Amino acid sequence: MDLTGKTALITGSGRGIGKAIAQRLSDAGAKIVINDVSDASAATAAEIKAAGKQSLFVKGNVSSSEDVNRMVETIIASFGRLDILVNNAGITRDQLTLRMTDEDWNAVIDVNLKGVFLCTRAALKYMMKQRWGRIINISSISGIIGNPGQVNYCAAKAGIIGITRTVAKEMASRQITVNAICPGFIQTDMTQKLSDKVKEEYSQHIPVGYFGTPQDVAEAVAFFASEEARYITGQFLCVDGGMISVW
Ligand SMILES: NC(=O)c1ccc[n+]([C@@H]2O[C@H](COP(=O)([O-])OP(=O)(O)OC[C@H]3O[C@@H](n4cnc5c(N)ncnc54)[C@H](O)[C@@H]3O)[C@@H](O)[C@H]2O)c1
Repeated sequence: MDLTGKTALITGSGRGIGKAIAQRLSDAGAKIVINDVSDASAATAAEIKAAGKQSLFVKGNVSSSEDVNRMVETIIASFGRLDILVNNAGITRDQLTLRMTDEDWNAVIDVNLKGVFLCTRAALKYMMKQRWGRIINISSISGIIGNPGQVNYCAAKAGIIGITRTVAKEMASRQITVNAICPGFIQTDMTQKLSDKVKEEYSQHIPVGYFGTPQDVAEAVAFFASEEARYITGQFLCVDGGMISVW
């Protein structure tokens, strides 16, 4: 899978799954744009540069259309094109439905769902002119099977599947593919904060018997980003150690 000459934007890539995706696409030859909300995430772009590869950090909140449009304009000014968009930025604000506040609902929908729409719309403008593009949305198996205490998160992740299928159809004739990945339980800061009891419960539902790593997700993203995956669009792929098949 050779991505030489391509430019890839990975949202929320200062750490965790996004960082692993950035490093994997960089290894495949792509110029990498790291986006995140914190200045500290510039370190990820610096690491890629230190390895002799091209990388740029653009700070921005994916739920702000102003930030997103500025981010994409900066990328075009720096690299001249945008070929691959990985919508990875995501947050959790867990609570049972009866107790969930409007604020927690809105925060998760804004970042996890509206953010995907805003970044997709901004990137498509350039992908359409190029008549080539790859959009890979990081959903979750929670969006398919549901998860108690995550009504906001599951709604957003299910919504991402709807965005994926719709934009795939809209863009199919332009060599722009749109696919989603649904990770299961992946070891990152997001899952680190769960209690040992919850982690133990999850582990009993993973047929392969262990938690996934950010690298496991990154390998699937690299495939969807490649020319080799040109005939695959509107799909979702579960990277979950078999979890969804037994839940
Ligand atoms: N870890 C898992 O088990 C798991 C499972 C399924 C899906 N996912 C999804 O994978 C993605 C990455 O998750 P992770 O585990 O690496 O999480 P993480 O919390 O480790 O990293 C998320 C990153 O997104 C950034 N971010 C948050 N809000 C942002 C915003 N508004 N704009 C830009 N960046 C923002 C954070 O600063 C952080 O660097 C998320 O979409 C998450 O929902 C994770």
